[in-house]
Amino acid sequence: MSANVQSRSLTVPDILGAKGATPLVCLTAYTTPMARQVDAHCDIVLVGDSLGMVLHGLPSTLGVTMEMMILHGQAVMRGLSRAFCVIDLPFGSYEESPQQAFRNASRLLAETGAAAVKLEGGAHMAETIAFLVARGVPVMAHIGLTPQAVNTLGGYKVQGRNADRERILADAQAVADAGAFAVVLEKVPESLGRQITEALKIPTIGIGAGAGCDGQILVVDDMLGLFADFRPKFVKRYADLAGEADRAIAAYAAEVRSGAFPAPEHSFGDAVK
Ligand code: KIV
Repeated sequence: MSANVQSRSLTVPDILGAKGATPLVCLTAYTTPMARQVDAHCDIVLVGDSLGMVLHGLPSTLGVTMEMMILHGQAVMRGLSRAFCVIDLPFGSYEESPQQAFRNASRLLAETGAAAVKLEGGAHMAETIAFLVARGVPVMAHIGLTPQAVNTLGGYKVQGRNADRERILADAQAVADAGAFAVVLEKVPESLGRQITEALKIPTIGIGAGAGCDGQILVVDDMLGLFADFRPKFVKRYADLAGEADRAIAAYAAEVRSGAFPAPEHSFGDAVK
């Protein structure tokens, strides 16, 4: 879907219609300025629970709360006019029962204005996905490496290389059959990403899942190079904002210490103009 062809917000049918067509462009955003920046270029903007690690310095996404998601979801929605906004259900807000999931998903949509929720899990979440979809909550599923299960998975490892390949295939089919409108495939072999994409009628959105998917997503801070020391293989760096920021802050510090800043043009005279 090319940017700037529509001024209205994209919808679930638009996203479904992109299957097999132009790849869907997706990025995360957590703040209004970043949402404004990505809106014109992206089909889907995700308020990901990665915000816990990226913005709040948490060791994993497990400590992210509903309140954090709502605050950042509201900020992002203020910056979007075209992109389709998906917001993550945080750990502990949906796994207990379909009813708990509906209570929290409907709260996220009502209080932020986002268009859909994302939740992690495959076949075991199918009942919950069907329950939400039947009640008007569009669901994006997330399978493969599911970061909220980091303690069970034993780290952020590539999934689907061994016997779990069949399970991930079954997960993909289960979430699609349950009514998810799209599925994120995280950190799986390229061949599995392609196989799932060919098998499903809904778009697959890859992150570390190869070029065979119907779309791609990255954490925007990662692809902008906002972290000097975080370089996963699946992230291409399109900028070095951490380096740029470091150079700018160092220059500011040097000029404050030397007295070069503020210069006369940054200072106010006595005259009222
Ligand atoms: O939380 C997040 O940012 C995500 C993406 C990495 C897919 O789930």
